[in-house]
Amino acid sequence: MNRKLHAIVLLCCLGASTGVFAAPPAALIDRYAAEARAADPTFTGFSVERGETLHRTRYGLGKPDTPACTSCHGDDTRGPGKTRTGKAIEPMAASVVATRYSDPAKVEKWFKRNCTEVLGRECSPREKGDWLAWMANQ
Ligand code: HEC
Repeated sequence: MNRKLHAIVLLCCLGASTGVFAAPPAALIDRYAAEARAADPTFTGFSVERGETLHRTRYGLGKPDTPACTSCHGDDTRGPGKTRTGKAIEPMAASVVATRYSDPAKVEKWFKRNCTEVLGRECSPREKGDWLAWMANQ
């Protein structure tokens, strides 16, 4: 194989293995891990248990009609959710909806908006990574 071709093959497959193209969002999880480590040197990794707790806890610290993530996304991650105005939301489990979490800008936009509505603040990189780790596991 000539050297140029070899480089192209290498580029293609490195990209695929870091999850740039689809869920589960390995590249995004790597990014949140780096941010979490920068914020807290004792950070040792994300936890699916903490992710589930974040999803199910009724914080009630943001908007009164959305105390929890489940207020819109529902109790079952594999089933559909519903917005406050009654619009259907596709299931959040990465195994059910293949396009989930494939666009980092979309993920960031909704984390910002939804964490503010539920927790009254943005989620930390650790919280985002925990939550995504749990959804990637569903
Ligand atoms: C007010 C209703 C509502 C609440 C509460 C809510 N969400 Fe969402 N969420 C949505 C809607 C609507 C979308 C965009 C539609 C879609 O992706 O199907 C969305 C999308 C997302 C996405 C992007 C998904 C993707 O495919 O990229 C993430 C991440 C997310 N929500 C996380 C959360 C977390 C974490 C919480 C709790 C802290 C939460 N949401 C609470 C309504 C809500």
